[in-house]
Amino acid sequence: MRITVRDIQKMKDDHEPIVMLTAYDATSARLSEAAGVPMLLVGDTLGMVIQGHEYPIPVTLDHIIYHASIVTRVTKQALVVGDMPFMSYHVSIEQALTNAGRLMQESGVSAIKMEGGESLAETISRMVDAGIPVMGHIGLMPQSVNQVGGFRVQGRDFDSAQHLLRDAHAVQAAGAFALVLESVPAQLAQMITEQLHIPTIGIGAGVHCDGQVQVFHDIMGLFEEFVPRHTKQYAHMAVDMRAAISAYVHDVQTRSFPTAENSFSMKDEVIAALRADGSDGE
Ligand code: KIV
Repeated sequence: MRITVRDIQKMKDDHEPIVMLTAYDATSARLSEAAGVPMLLVGDTLGMVIQGHEYPIPVTLDHIIYHASIVTRVTKQALVVGDMPFMSYHVSIEQALTNAGRLMQESGVSAIKMEGGESLAETISRMVDAGIPVMGHIGLMPQSVNQVGGFRVQGRDFDSAQHLLRDAHAVQAAGAFALVLESVPAQLAQMITEQLHIPTIGIGAGVHCDGQVQVFHDIMGLFEEFVPRHTKQYAHMAVDMRAAISAYVHDVQTRSFPTAENSFSMKDEVIAALRADGSDGE
């Protein structure tokens, strides 16, 4: 039985920190679930860490559906949230509902995530009415990177902090089950967390959020293009993998791999018969 949005709410009510991690493929999803991660996000960060883009803008709904289907296929317990990509929910509420429906039906995710505050409240509310659990996302919204001019901390001054507080309340009032706070000052994230009854999930938003989300490749030290300040590398997989690949290259080039242990053999009589038959080409 999968973890539900009600279980996530209960974790906030019980003051149990909520762990969320991105997953895009069978290996990361299996490893994360086995380590006890209750909520997996098939995020549009896959545009950067899987597809090699600079920003998540080129990610399409079909891409998210493809990766989310893999994650739901190999997991049994985790609540899997699918990210609604750029322009898949902005044209109209009808477009948003149709695309969220596709994401849930075709990939098997149990909830969707969308970036936006007050201006997205009606869309969130219509989705919730249709039975679609929605996770909100405010603060730094990477899909608006071209508008805000890069990955910048949001809500540092009075006006923008007030704006974020209004956004947070609007998302909650619209019926979202949780809210991601990305790159906002820790004090503001704490204020929002204390004011909301739904869980806040922080990334670059300090320790007082109800939970934390991180990008799998960031915490594994797999993504080397840049290391965001909000992350912590729990491993140095890129370094280890580069060393492993170099060792493989060396072994092949020096014919030290494969060895007999990695090879298969056949009976001597069969070889002799092939030779006698001229089938060995001589
Ligand atoms: O796409 C993503 O991975 C996200 C997280 C960084 C919250 O939105």
